[in-house]
Amino acid sequence: MKKLKLIGPFKNLLPMTGLPLKGALSDNQLVVLHDAGILIAGEHIKEIGSFQELKSKFSDIEIQELQGDHTCLPGFVDAHTHICFGGSRANDYALRNAGKTYLEIAKAGGGIWDTVTQTRKASKSELTKGTVKRANRHLKTGVTTIEVKSGYGLSVEEELKMLYAIKEANASTSADLIATCLAAHILPKDYPGSAEQYLEEISTMLFPKLKSENLTNRVDAFIEESAFSATGIASYFKKAKTMGFDITVHADQFSTGGSKVAVKFNALSADHLEASTQIEIDLLAKSDVIATALPGASIGLGSAFTPARKLLDAGGALAIASDHNPGSAPMGDLLTQATILGAFEKLSNAEVLAGITFRGASALKLSDRGTLEEGMLADFSLFHTPNYQEILYNQGNLKPCVVFKRGEKVFDKHK
Ligand code: NIG
Ligand code: FE
Repeated sequence: MKKLKLIGPFKNLLPMTGLPLKGALSDNQLVVLHDAGILIAGEHIKEIGSFQELKSKFSDIEIQELQGDHTCLPGFVDAHTHICFGGSRANDYALRNAGKTYLEIAKAGGGIWDTVTQTRKASKSELTKGTVKRANRHLKTGVTTIEVKSGYGLSVEEELKMLYAIKEANASTSADLIATCLAAHILPKDYPGSAEQYLEEISTMLFPKLKSENLTNRVDAFIEESAFSATGIASYFKKAKTMGFDITVHADQFSTGGSKVAVKFNALSADHLEASTQIEIDLLAKSDVIATALPGASIGLGSAFTPARKLLDAGGALAIASDHNPGSAPMGDLLTQATILGAFEKLSNAEVLAGITFRGASALKLSDRGTLEEGMLADFSLFHTPNYQEILYNQGNLKPCVVFKRGEKVFDKHK
């Protein structure tokens, strides 16, 4: 049996425990442990407490004693990304900054369809490689769990290629990748039938494969005027639910409608919500659906942020994710984006950190991560500062110096 491992002492350790899933949070609700240590057994946390006490309580343990001042946070959970893709959309970005809108570019043949074309051209192993590269980059910034969507294949065969690539990427990175099927991203331009026929084909031909090949248990759809309608998606989601898939929705990005569908189908999360009004905010807040803000898309498109403050004040659960994709959100730096959302939406440290830890985990229905306590995965990051407030204050410029995933050190800046 492997020896127990004790890491510490940390000047500040934020276990993110004892906080509610829903509603506003203030910083004085945060538990801040001083001179703390984490005792690790294999992939999990065995105990958290005073470093000195843990050191004297256990004999025959491996001790990794830190020099200098560190703050320890749970591994971040990025609950919404599209990091499996081919090509680049740098030209879309230039066009947007020259005055064209995201939807105008899409109508002219660019946008998501452009990435579909480039993704279809890529081999499975090229997609795997790109996904691993991006996942490892996220990992170095403290993101230890990453949701990854398909949705640039848009045929049974090409969606399968993407989902196999995500599965293979998961085996080649230390981060945990959680796959989601987004075959209902847009109606592919080369599909000879209607949206209804496309969705019927996907649900009949692809859904059973997702189960039998163990590719994903999550189904997403983009509900928008330029994508799928709220009524059109109903039978697709009904079928997905009957087959036992969890639902998540790209909702209210440019126009409302998606969040209502998310609530109706008891989705795990409704993501985007930049266009949500008080009606949608109240609806979501009353439900169990996690509202996921994607500030990376607002920054990428130069448009409004999700009304995060209003969602929290109404009593909603707010996760924050990067939406990392080649089109609307090319940056892919969750911590930076979450701190910027915090500055514009007036979020407390507790609310921002909850959004990228246990509230993000909840959007993925993962109850084994997002907080640091006994029995949870030993996923955590160290920041070189004695004061946790410095992390968001530096607006993403203070990156972790060390990252642990499932009890192993997977990144060390000094090495
Ligand atoms: O979440 N809104 C739809 N889908 C993605 C963007 C994908 C793309 O532009 O390639 C999003 O922003
Ligand atoms: Fe997205």
